[in-house]
Amino acid sequence: MKSIRVYTHPNIAICKYWGKRNTELLLPTKSSISIGLSALFTDTTVSISSEPRDIIRLNGVEASAKEARAIHSFLAMCRNEYQLNTTLKIESCNSFPHSAGMASSASGFAALAVALNRLLCWKLNNKKVSILARRGSGSACRSVLSGFVHWSKGERLDGLDSYARQVVPTDYWPELRIITVIVSTAAKNISSRDGMQISMATSPCYDAWIEKSERNIPILIDGIHQKNLHQVGHMMQDEWRDWVQVLETSSPRLTYFTSGTYSVIEAIKTLQVSGIACYYTTDAGPNVHMLCLDESVEQVSRTIRALPGVRDIIISCAANNSIIEELS
Ligand code: PMV
Repeated sequence: MKSIRVYTHPNIAICKYWGKRNTELLLPTKSSISIGLSALFTDTTVSISSEPRDIIRLNGVEASAKEARAIHSFLAMCRNEYQLNTTLKIESCNSFPHSAGMASSASGFAALAVALNRLLCWKLNNKKVSILARRGSGSACRSVLSGFVHWSKGERLDGLDSYARQVVPTDYWPELRIITVIVSTAAKNISSRDGMQISMATSPCYDAWIEKSERNIPILIDGIHQKNLHQVGHMMQDEWRDWVQVLETSSPRLTYFTSGTYSVIEAIKTLQVSGIACYYTTDAGPNVHMLCLDESVEQVSRTIRALPGVRDIIISCAANNSIIEELS
């Protein structure tokens, strides 16, 4: 049995993807920028199987029908549009909880796309693997690449210009750290997939947010090129506040955050006032992701760890995606 093992990392968007212009091809309404989290990973092994059906195991146990649904529909798409003519055994483990706003679908589908490309010798380049991963989960197209990554929304109806490109490689900004503050590992009650459709359909702020956020992207890219944490961090926070306004004006109102989220954000604001350069964002979940420099990690960690409600903190650098091993 031929197998491929791939390690990928989830990514945190510093400028979010939230809404699709095409729900089948998973084409976004706007571009987005992210960075991979080196300390969190997905470890996926894909094997050609002789069983009559695909076998999907997540974190050591057979996936429930609900968990496996998105993977089955991704595999059905691959059987229609790519050269997939065999059944597969897919075994995937995360080093972090799924559905808690830690982007497990991003690293999961990125790993699957990278593994299929190698296992089945499709010889797709990074651009095409990113497009393939996007068909599983939009944000997965960004987890195919390392360093800071820009997913441009593209204009084409077929989505062939909607894929992620590297802004700068992993080692471009070696002092940068991403601190993930865990306040809860409970699964969210409205998935990102549903939440973004609700926002598009109901938030009166949605269209203005899309336009403003698209204009912010060159400023973020410029800040990354200049390694200007102040510029990147302030823009990331502004972006987050505008996105939260979209969530709060959606109907039903979307609440992915807890009191723990807000107390971490308040503590970060206090650190900022005392002159420490650290900046916050979240995914669609209660945990907080911070950007800071290596020199501030100790002080920031000590302050954040002491807050009631903080369960753990995880310190990452920009991740190197995707490590591949041929097992046989
Ligand atoms: O790829 P999805 O469908 O899981 O969407 C995730 C979108 C966010 O993570 C909430 C934001 C983003 O840009 O990563």
